[in-house]
Amino acid sequence: MKGLILAAGRGTRLRPLTHTRPKPVIRVAGRPIIHYALDNLLAAGVEEIGVVVSPETEKDLREALSGYPVRYILQEEPQGLAHAVAVAGDFLKESPFVLYLGDNLFQRGIRPYLEAFREGVSAVLALVRVGNPRQFGVAVMEGERIVRLLEKPKDPPSDLAVAGVYVFTPEVLEVIQDLKPSARGEYEITDAIQGLIDRGKKVVGVEVEGWWKDTGRPADLLDANRLLLEELSPRVEGEVEESQLTGRVVVARGARVVGSTVIGPAFIGEGALVEGAYVGPFTSLGPGARVVRSEVEYSILEDQAVLENVALRLQESILGVGAEVKSRNGLPRAHRLILGDLSQVELA
Ligand code: TTP
Repeated sequence: MKGLILAAGRGTRLRPLTHTRPKPVIRVAGRPIIHYALDNLLAAGVEEIGVVVSPETEKDLREALSGYPVRYILQEEPQGLAHAVAVAGDFLKESPFVLYLGDNLFQRGIRPYLEAFREGVSAVLALVRVGNPRQFGVAVMEGERIVRLLEKPKDPPSDLAVAGVYVFTPEVLEVIQDLKPSARGEYEITDAIQGLIDRGKKVVGVEVEGWWKDTGRPADLLDANRLLLEELSPRVEGEVEESQLTGRVVVARGARVVGSTVIGPAFIGEGALVEGAYVGPFTSLGPGARVVRSEVEYSILEDQAVLENVALRLQESILGVGAEVKSRNGLPRAHRLILGDLSQVELA
């Protein structure tokens, strides 16, 4: 069994964060999203893993995944999930494989889908019950079998949406060869799966246990961060001086918490500084981030991000790598903003 993680998307819904970095390397609960995918594959015994990257995402992914034994496969343009699979044909060869969307998170791993993959089954799909099936690929079931797949149906026949993990036999590569692009111009994996069904192949659905999260939009990132922090084991490896840590808090190596209050679950990354500050529940600080004389909760600060001398508490905020929010002394008392394209600021 091989693993194929897709990480060649444009991540348009997460701009401006994804103007400079690919979505799968954004940190939630202190770790790049894609690390959770690799850990889940390895934990399920899948050791030969390929990662599909684009010319834009390759460098950052190689950096984020140094230390993981993976093969990189280049998809020149993001022409769809089925296209990404076709591009990986030489890596996959005749092997069955797990297809894993690099921006998806599964609380309880992926073993149940591999266990359901047996002789006579051409594909296993992870399915999840959702309240808004119109926004997903939706499965029509007969027993354990998926008999039809509908992409973003106006009138959903069920509330079972397709989540981002699939197990396939190499048969799917043959179906993909014959695919035509969809109305949005992409080679769709749902069309490939429908192609298997149309050829009489057995496609099985297995409901996801625990939570599942697709980190497509900023609110999803914050929610994923919350869900992962809920499972945090507290540990203090850095320095804590004259501060109060309440609940599950991680203070990573080289981090300093001075004269501050931290209420968990919260993650203070390597070399980060929290000084004269309040860090509230569901907050993650990346390596080298700084929160000084400020308050923050339910937020993500990426590597080297800075929050300094800001009077009002920051909430539901995401600061990208090296982003700074500071207040300034003196006149004129005005907001001064240098924001990248598509940045969002809400001032109270
Ligand atoms: P999507 O969420 O469909 O696309 P995206 O990540 O580019 O985001 P957006 O819709 O906001 O522009 O992709 C799911 C995963 O699959 C994601 O990790 C990127 C990856 N992907 C590829 O590797 N190749 C592709 O051709 C596409 C479309 C996605």
